[in-house]
Amino acid sequence: MENNLSEHTRNILGLKLPTDPRWVNLAEIQLEEILTDHAYCEQKAATTCISLIQKNPEKSLLVQELSPLVTEEWGHFRMVLAELNKRDLQLGRQRKDVYVNKLIDFQKKGGSHEERFLDQMLTMALIEARSCERFKRLSEGLDDDYMRKFYRKFMESEAGHYTLFITLAEHYIDKKIVRQRWAEWLVYEKELMNSAEVRGDRIH
Ligand SMILES: [Fe+2]
Ligand SMILES: [Fe+2]
Repeated sequence: MENNLSEHTRNILGLKLPTDPRWVNLAEIQLEEILTDHAYCEQKAATTCISLIQKNPEKSLLVQELSPLVTEEWGHFRMVLAELNKRDLQLGRQRKDVYVNKLIDFQKKGGSHEERFLDQMLTMALIEARSCERFKRLSEGLDDDYMRKFYRKFMESEAGHYTLFITLAEHYIDKKIVRQRWAEWLVYEKELMNSAEVRGDRIH
């Protein structure tokens, strides 16, 4: 299972740039910050799924698949919150999410409803993929065995979500178009990661 999952994660993510190895060490010493940022990532995932349902009620497969995802992502928020509480740490205020904002910059603003829909789905797939990769780093690189296991659970969930968003995009839009645009997103994300500051107080 261990090997399969690692292999699976490596293959599916398709990310073009692995996380800077220094990031885990930085995150390790800022647990309150990283847990707070993580909690809001989960909240945003839940909120975005609700918004996608509101904007696409005619897409029944999407509604059917994203409804339980809202519950799952909110469950993740609660798991992170419980971890903060257990350690007597505070859920801080939400920070500016530079990574997500830069991804939103790349979304096509004009164009057809279909093009905008595709970019929204691929943005979600990318956030899930990068989150999965980051959780994998934490699950392998942290000193604390308990926290390694904690992040492993998230890594497994987010890998499933990445594939769900791609599958949903391909259900509604020509596969070739999806693959082509996904390739553009991967290149953009690589440049984004390359130019971003390595910060241990952020998941991304
Ligand atoms: Fe999640
Ligand atoms: Fe997720």
